[in-house]
Amino acid sequence: MNAPSLHGLSLNTPSYVKHPKLIAWVADMVALCKPAQVVWCDGSDAEYQRLCEQLEQAGTFKRLNPAKRPNSFLACSDPSDVARVEDRTFICSEKAEDAGPTNNWKAPAEMRATLQPLFDGCMAGRTMYVVPFSMGPLGSPIAHIGIELSDSAYVAVNMKLMTRMGRAVFDVLGTDGEFVPCVHTVGAPLAAGEKDQTSWPCNPTTKYIVHYPETREIWSYGSGYGGNALLGKKCFALRIASTMGKQQGWLAEHMLILGVTNPQGKKYHVAAAFPSACGKTNFAMLIPPKGFEGWKVTTIGDDIAWIKPRADGRLYAINPEAGYFGVAPGTNSLTNPNCMDSLHRDVIFTNVALTDDGDVWWEGMGDAPAHAIDWQGKEWTPQIAKETGAKAAHPNARFTVAATNNPALDSAWDDPAGVPIDAFIFGGRRSTTVPLVTEARNWTEGVYMAATMGSETTAAAFGAQGVVRRDPFAMLPFAGYNMSDYFQHWLDLGAKLQASGAKLPGIFCVNWFRKDANGKFVWPGFGENMRVLQWMIGRLEGQAQGQEHAIGVTPRFEDLHWTGLDFTAEQYQTVTSIDKAAWKDELALHEDLFKQLAHHLPTELIKTKAAIERRLAA
Ligand code: OXD
Ligand code: MN
Repeated sequence: MNAPSLHGLSLNTPSYVKHPKLIAWVADMVALCKPAQVVWCDGSDAEYQRLCEQLEQAGTFKRLNPAKRPNSFLACSDPSDVARVEDRTFICSEKAEDAGPTNNWKAPAEMRATLQPLFDGCMAGRTMYVVPFSMGPLGSPIAHIGIELSDSAYVAVNMKLMTRMGRAVFDVLGTDGEFVPCVHTVGAPLAAGEKDQTSWPCNPTTKYIVHYPETREIWSYGSGYGGNALLGKKCFALRIASTMGKQQGWLAEHMLILGVTNPQGKKYHVAAAFPSACGKTNFAMLIPPKGFEGWKVTTIGDDIAWIKPRADGRLYAINPEAGYFGVAPGTNSLTNPNCMDSLHRDVIFTNVALTDDGDVWWEGMGDAPAHAIDWQGKEWTPQIAKETGAKAAHPNARFTVAATNNPALDSAWDDPAGVPIDAFIFGGRRSTTVPLVTEARNWTEGVYMAATMGSETTAAAFGAQGVVRRDPFAMLPFAGYNMSDYFQHWLDLGAKLQASGAKLPGIFCVNWFRKDANGKFVWPGFGENMRVLQWMIGRLEGQAQGQEHAIGVTPRFEDLHWTGLDFTAEQYQTVTSIDKAAWKDELALHEDLFKQLAHHLPTELIKTKAAIERRLAA
């Protein structure tokens, strides 16, 4: 093989990197992207501080008041680069049918031909950071490794908080370990001698978030924000990992993982899937309310779960991430006290407002400051907000923080063996129709519930606000392959576990978001969701009662524990009633989804739908 031309540039490969294929790939990418220099990240604290200082000098980071938020920074993005770009996200499998109708697809050769000229010289004038990371505890049998090449120091420091990043990854990789190659560029090359005119370089017109599932590669162009740029998260841990899981018999899911311990000290583990911006981080950090003395909820993960079956027939889950990239607006000491406590120090905030005393503020955090600088750098006062509707923080503003900042962190969060899953929860944001909680009577019914899940869109999750979009398993933007094949994979895994004689996890569907006739939320949510969690555990133990209906099993008012909460039977009726007419309309929407997903749609799901229809008609 000829060595690629590096234009006299040194690769600077550290002596501890002993993986010829990896080094050759970096050399190829350097030859293509033509950065001004290459820096291999070692993941040390000193490196983190150095990069943060560099970002400060470049104007990307503003250091917050150390007396208020030690070692914390605010970054404000280009207004055109504020969220994931689903319409620019592609699954480039060889066959279109393997990406399926819910993904944007292009043939790999065609996409490579498009990307080649874009990546040629894309890092000119910039530094290429080589970011080694492990998704999951280093060396865990459930974990996998990625290497991200990025021309963004913001990405490098976020990856330090969000993943197990650094030199130890190379020890795990050795000379020939497997890794997922991830290439990221902000798509804003600099001409010789040119300096950035902006503190958030990105490409305002061209963005591509590209996955090649067969060769397990990720190529991201043009955006510096969140899931578009931190490639370990949605791109690797969900889209690429879901395809790996399909091939290898495991699951990569858009799920939080929590531990719940009862007053007797018995511990359960629950994995829960909710679409983006439905309060996953809040649920993962739930504090049991009054009436639940002696109960404890602990966080293993807030966004993604990798779940593998073991010889004992149980499913074991790890959080592949090591930090939280959570939505700030709406987070406060009532909705999520543990989260607020996680944010006292060592945080990167993106697109929130800067207060006059050098701290941060966002809508829904608490009392508004009299004056602030909004996320776009403009003057902001409550009066301006009233007159113009200007938001101090972007609705999709984020915090990045290491999991170790979380006071409710589970002692097993970093256990390479993972935790055994007792129940799965699926939930969307629905103002009508879907009851507070429903237990599936069996695995197939649970898969049906998850597959047909819908959620009303919010600002963070794109699209017109308040429109119900079907979001199967909360994986619509994240499944790396054909959604119907994904359903089949879940059904096959359940059948395999059942055949081994194991007790399958329970499956529950929840909806915290039903509204009354005045358009007000009825269920108090947040910590009070503990009441529903406790009922689920009671069901797992065969102790709690419920009422069977057309869709599954829902607790009656008297089946939940109400001490500490004033909630009437009438209110309960508002959040649990089954409106048969509304459910007929709902099933018509399931039918639309099934038509869209007809290719390879498992017949069990069609049969389950027919059974629900029969029960509704009875
Ligand atoms: C997220 C998302 O950022 O789901 O977690 O969009
Ligand atoms: Mn998410």
